[in-house]
Amino acid sequence: MLQQIEQLEIELKQLKISTPSELEEFRIQYLGKKGLLSRLFEAFKDVPSPDKKVTGLKLNEFKNLVTEKFDSHKSIFSETVQSFQGDITLSPESIPLGSRHPVSLIRKELVSIFSRIGFAVAEGPEIEDDWHVFSGLNFPLEHPARDMQDTFFIEKNPDILLRTHTSSVQVRVMETGHPPIRKVFPGRVFRNEAISARAHCIFHQLEGLYIDKNVSFADLKQTLMFFARELFGEKTQIRLRPSFFPFTEPSAEMDVSCTICGGSGCNVCKYTGYLEILGCGMVDPEVLESSSIDSKIYTGFAFGMGLERIAMLKYQINDLRLYFENDVRFLSQFKAAY
Ligand code: DAH
Repeated sequence: MLQQIEQLEIELKQLKISTPSELEEFRIQYLGKKGLLSRLFEAFKDVPSPDKKVTGLKLNEFKNLVTEKFDSHKSIFSETVQSFQGDITLSPESIPLGSRHPVSLIRKELVSIFSRIGFAVAEGPEIEDDWHVFSGLNFPLEHPARDMQDTFFIEKNPDILLRTHTSSVQVRVMETGHPPIRKVFPGRVFRNEAISARAHCIFHQLEGLYIDKNVSFADLKQTLMFFARELFGEKTQIRLRPSFFPFTEPSAEMDVSCTICGGSGCNVCKYTGYLEILGCGMVDPEVLESSSIDSKIYTGFAFGMGLERIAMLKYQINDLRLYFENDVRFLSQFKAAY
């Protein structure tokens, strides 16, 4: 045993402890309940009496070396902690957070409003063919939207183009699914427009489509009223004006009571008390039939709106170009929203 302790002493002297966790390991290994020292004292009981004295002295010497090593390292490490001069109770500096883009905020809010009344979300491609953007939606061949002045064409004959509206997703959803269909389609659209405060060549829309048995214009009106009040507040009034779209019959445009003056008249609503926010109507039976949906059994309604326009009204933004410039002074104003 004597030799064993001598060997252990050599090892102890060579052992390096450089971190508090290494010290803790050392403590467990040497001084713990089942550690080396207690095992040695246990074994000491069996040392024959003539050897007991010498071995006992050696064992005690070893024990002192171990505790000295432990104590000296302990004080070194605690001094390191004490030498830190800062105030550890101060709260940490916050990491600067980004903010969501206003268009993303509006898209999220609209999707959430429509999901509460059973509308799921679907998406379609931004690069489309003539069928999904125009022909499948009953646009006549000579319609001006098919003109190069309005649409970005990628290829001609057959026509491949950047979609000019999210109504194209209506056709995709109708040709792949069966009624009942109750979905909204948010997405990016493209038009060949000169960029100004009021027009841009890229913007976002959200389209809605509901097809089932017995869907009526009254359902459309109630859906839109629910949407307008959820978005702009309970007191919001809506107004439907007759309009024309090739894919809906009858068609309408919807106005909401001015979000600034509440309807009494101001320069935002040009003293009319109302603001136009979307197009809508009953899906034209021609459109249903061309996607193989029986128009004698099913009816439906559709609506489409511009997200930038809604964000403009909600956040009082007066220039469309701000949405695409990514100026942090503009974007960081939406931090509080989520
Ligand atoms: N696609 C139309 C546009 O871009 C908006 C629209 C109008 C969509 C009427 C519809 C609708 O679904 O029924 O101007």
